Amino acid sequence: MINQLEQNHLPKNVKADILIVDDTPDNLRVLSAMLTNQGYEVRKALNGQRAISSVQLEPPNLILLDIKMPGMDGYEVCRNLKASYPTCEVPIIFISALDDALDKVKAFASGGVDYITKPFQEAEVLARIEHQLRIQELQHQLVEQNKELLRSNRDLEQFAYVVSHDLQQPLQSVTGFVKLLQLKYGCSLDEVAQDYLNRIFATGNRMQKLIQDLLAYSQIDKQEQMLENIDCNEVLNQVLDNLQEAIVTKQATITHDSLPTVQGDETQLIQLFQNLISNALKFIPEHTNPSIHISATAQKNQWHLGVRDNGIGIKPEHLEKIFEIFQRIHSTQTYPGTGIGLATCKKIVERHHGKIWVESQFGAGTTFYFSLPMVKV
Ligand SMILES: Nc1ncnc2c1ncn2[C@@H]1O[C@H](COP(=O)(O)OP(=O)(O)O)[C@@H](O)[C@H]1O
Ligand SMILES: [Mg+2]
Repeated sequence: MINQLEQNHLPKNVKADILIVDDTPDNLRVLSAMLTNQGYEVRKALNGQRAISSVQLEPPNLILLDIKMPGMDGYEVCRNLKASYPTCEVPIIFISALDDALDKVKAFASGGVDYITKPFQEAEVLARIEHQLRIQELQHQLVEQNKELLRSNRDLEQFAYVVSHDLQQPLQSVTGFVKLLQLKYGCSLDEVAQDYLNRIFATGNRMQKLIQDLLAYSQIDKQEQMLENIDCNEVLNQVLDNLQEAIVTKQATITHDSLPTVQGDETQLIQLFQNLISNALKFIPEHTNPSIHISATAQKNQWHLGVRDNGIGIKPEHLEKIFEIFQRIHSTQTYPGTGIGLATCKKIVERHHGKIWVESQFGAGTTFYFSLPMVKV
């Protein structure tokens, strides 16, 4: 069926295939002559039933449909065609005589895209037909471009996954051997050589972090999502445990509201909280102790959670771009990182049908908010 529709899409310079449905043979002749003159392929049907069979057999690019016909009227034919794929994709222009009471609302409600009234003005009919065909063409392009985008996005994610997965092991052996070299032969090397080894080790570690982050990012959409009732208090405890070292070194204070139980994937929620809290611990001015609060408020059928810090803040012009992958505002020397954390958070929240956003005051602090679905009762 899809192929049929794709074939139906017109290459440049090929005129459209138009079906005219009218129970008056004279009307059919006039319209048909007019359109054939313009180079259109024309098909004709004298009643609704034949029209439907013709469209089902091979969908035209457009239908001109008389409203008043014995048996099935135009509205009914239209509703019938709109009820199933691929006939629903064909634009329908209604034709009505001037003395018919044209019910425009009904015409649009049954799925028509336009209407023309008899007697016709040739130029107007042609203009309306061209217009609808152009809209159909643009819609088709949009669908195709969307498919292409999805495809290339999937390819890119697959590429990121394979590369990061396959790079992990060789890199581990590089850093492993450097460590061995330091341990076994470190004391027989001069200071310059030791400095070189230290740098190789540090660079290897940075690369490992980048690869781990990239792997985590590309796996979000790959993994089967395990939706369960998850107590966010437990998620937070786990995350605070994971970040214990940074919390103690930075003498951070972390407080939180009583957190809700939400519908979510536990591993992904841990990643989400951990990315946000580790940012809150990291983007802090020198000699300031982080003070972080995790809030939760109930909105309609969602929870809004927030992670507030007293850090360096973000300038308004940077607020949009930080959710894009690899986008960082600071150099890795000032604040180490890979620029993948927030892109991962965004993906996770969107997979939970939520939104993530940020409010910040440059120099004073930042709050990241995200919404998560409430547990269905
Ligand atoms: N709590 C925060 N305070 C200030 N800036 C932040 C905060 N969180 C994130 N940012 C900014 O957003 C950028 C992207 O964050 P993220 O994707 O987590 O990358 P990374 O932490 O690896 O730098 C950071 O480099 C930083 O500039
Ligand atoms: Mg981060």
